[in-house]
Amino acid sequence: MMFTPSMLLSLLAITFTVEAAVGKQRTRTTTAPNWFQTTPNNYAGPTVTGAAPFLAQTNPAPFGQVAYVPNAPLQTSEPIVGAQERNIFHLMGNLSPYFSPENGFGVDEYSLPEGANNFPLWASGIFNATANGTVFEGDLSFLNDWSFKLGEEVLVPQGRKELFDSGILNYYNYGHLYNNSSKLVVRSASQDRVLKSAENFLAGFFGLDWAEHANLLVTIDPAVTGVFDCTRYYDGVLSAFEQVGTWNSIYLKERTAKLRKLTGSYNWTVADTFYAQKLCPYETNGKGSNITLTSSNPAREASSVAYGIAWVEEFLARVEGHLLNVPANTTGANMTLDTNPVTFPVNQSLYLEFGHDGDIVAAMTAFGLTQFAGFLPATGPPAHQQFFSSKIVPFAGRLNIEIIKAPHKVSARRSSKTSAKHDAYICDTGERHYVHFILNQRTIPLHVSFEACEYRDDGWCELTTFMNVQKESLAKAEYQYACFGNWTMKGYGTYSDGRPV
Ligand SMILES: *[C@@H]1O[C@H](CO)[C@@H](O)[C@H](O)[C@H]1NC(C)=O
Ligand SMILES: *[C@@H]1O[C@H](CO)[C@@H](O)[C@H](O)[C@H]1NC(C)=O
Ligand SMILES: *[C@@H]1O[C@H](CO)[C@@H](O)[C@H](O)[C@H]1NC(C)=O
Ligand SMILES: *[C@@H]1O[C@H](CO)[C@@H](O)[C@H](O)[C@H]1NC(C)=O
Ligand SMILES: *[C@@H]1O[C@H](CO)[C@@H](O)[C@H](O)[C@H]1NC(C)=O
Ligand SMILES: *[C@@H]1O[C@H](CO)[C@@H](O)[C@H](O)[C@H]1NC(C)=O
Ligand SMILES: *[C@@H]1O[C@H](CO)[C@@H](O)[C@H](O)[C@H]1NC(C)=O
Ligand SMILES: *[C@@H]1O[C@H](CO)[C@@H](O)[C@H](O)[C@H]1NC(C)=O
Ligand SMILES: *[C@@H]1O[C@H](CO)[C@@H](O)[C@H](O)[C@H]1NC(C)=O
Ligand SMILES: *[C@@H]1O[C@H](CO)[C@@H](O)[C@H](O)[C@H]1NC(C)=O
Repeated sequence: MMFTPSMLLSLLAITFTVEAAVGKQRTRTTTAPNWFQTTPNNYAGPTVTGAAPFLAQTNPAPFGQVAYVPNAPLQTSEPIVGAQERNIFHLMGNLSPYFSPENGFGVDEYSLPEGANNFPLWASGIFNATANGTVFEGDLSFLNDWSFKLGEEVLVPQGRKELFDSGILNYYNYGHLYNNSSKLVVRSASQDRVLKSAENFLAGFFGLDWAEHANLLVTIDPAVTGVFDCTRYYDGVLSAFEQVGTWNSIYLKERTAKLRKLTGSYNWTVADTFYAQKLCPYETNGKGSNITLTSSNPAREASSVAYGIAWVEEFLARVEGHLLNVPANTTGANMTLDTNPVTFPVNQSLYLEFGHDGDIVAAMTAFGLTQFAGFLPATGPPAHQQFFSSKIVPFAGRLNIEIIKAPHKVSARRSSKTSAKHDAYICDTGERHYVHFILNQRTIPLHVSFEACEYRDDGWCELTTFMNVQKESLAKAEYQYACFGNWTMKGYGTYSDGRPV
């Protein structure tokens, strides 16, 4: 690191698609509404617990020849010149962070022999087909005795771990910003896996006594109630689904033709190939099988700015230190909560928020990050694709927004070739504030999306410049028109900035 700016304030918005449980918060006896009571949770949504995993049956421990590498929050991903595949974090004696010794302790591990395996049965259509005499052949013959053993909508163990690890990583990064004289108000959407994600994160961040340090404010989740006041938002979502169907029929055509030869009397279609492919990462995370896969999910719906604008306005309010003061019905924010200093504190140095992957994408769109907005044709990936859902919203994906206070202006040229520690600051300049967006531990260069932000090697933007840009966001969002207006849904590709104009 060139130098360490002191951090005044840090915002973290964190999302999860994976999915288990940790300590409940204590309830308090008081006559005022208890905003921070997390149980009972009437809006948790449906959950189904899956069959308990049994990877030991089929996989040698840890994972065949390849040592299982746990998430290593202390480990930099920066390549180290001369490291020659040695890992300094494995050379710290009894102070090394946890890892599994690759060469073991003298014996190898083996999976259980075949026959000791009652590995289960797949989804009801496949099950019905085989029950009715369909015999799958070749690469699909595993379907003949396969069944769906996953739960639904729950936080899987891998998710529990990633959130816990994320809490630890973020504590190492930002623990200093927590003022232990009061409890931090932390927000989470109410869906079961999101709330459990928040709890696991907090357990990582503060330890199992996190409830001594944080109050969880649970907000009613449109993903559970199906009610997002912005009625026309759903038209955009439907239109996006159509495009996914088109792309599926192109990229899965050949594979479907091949698989059809193995499916006997079962009418195997593109949809079957798609679900089979999707099932693979779900089973990987739910049960620990070893194949991974990603898919992309274009976020160009006509009302995504309307969906995301509440986070932008909440950001502005927190940085400026006041309650939310936007006119009613110009954002999706809950004005009851956001105008109450108990539920919308603005004196914290650290804010944590837990939601869905789509929330992060919508907030980024509403901030106006055009970098990821490139058109994704339904016919195939473009040459310079920027939007990869795997890179933007993986399990436990997170967007950190740092506000940095520096004693002087920081040189825009920070690369090692052009500057050294001593000249990171520009002489004779006064205190400056910067904003720094970090998505999954990598910087988003703000000058790429915002002309007003000067080019900087570090991708930061001066805070006042950034705030001025964002002050336009509310008007641009045209919430009333986008959500309730009589506009006609035009073809896919028409909406490049998440607005119906
Ligand atoms: C991973 O799965 C494939 C396909 O089921 C299997 O052939 C392979 O042995 C597995 N590898 C490990 C390390 O379990
Ligand atoms: C499978 O069969 C059961 C019982 O006949 C039926 O309820 C279910 O809908 C079928 N599933 C599919 C996908 O057709
Ligand atoms: C098998 O096929 C018959 C005739 O189409 C149908 O009535 C029956 O419900 C099917 N069974 C299952 C389990 O799907
Ligand atoms: C921590 O919070 C207390 C109570 O609000 C306040 O008096 C104190 O100045 C805060 N400390 C820091 C470092 O912000
Ligand atoms: C709170 O922080 C202060 C200042 O860093 C420290 O002296 C004190 O021990 C902390 N208290 C707790 C309960 O962690
Ligand atoms: C923020 O203000 C509230 C209400 O005055 C107070 O209870 C809390 O301790 C303050 N928090 C911090 C971190 O200063
Ligand atoms: C197989 O499914 C396709 C797509 O749903 C349909 O068009 C076709 O008629 C079906 N074929 C048979 C034999 O049922
Ligand atoms: C917001 O505005 C729309 C249309 O203008 C209206 O239908 C809706 O009821 C309003 N919602 C609230 C909470 O006032
Ligand atoms: C706002 O939050 C309050 C408190 O959780 C809740 O009662 C109310 O229904 C929420 N309003 C909306 C529009 O979600
Ligand atoms: C909405 O717009 C369409 C097309 O411009 C028009 O035909 C229709 O009358 C409008 N509906 C309302 C309620 O204004």
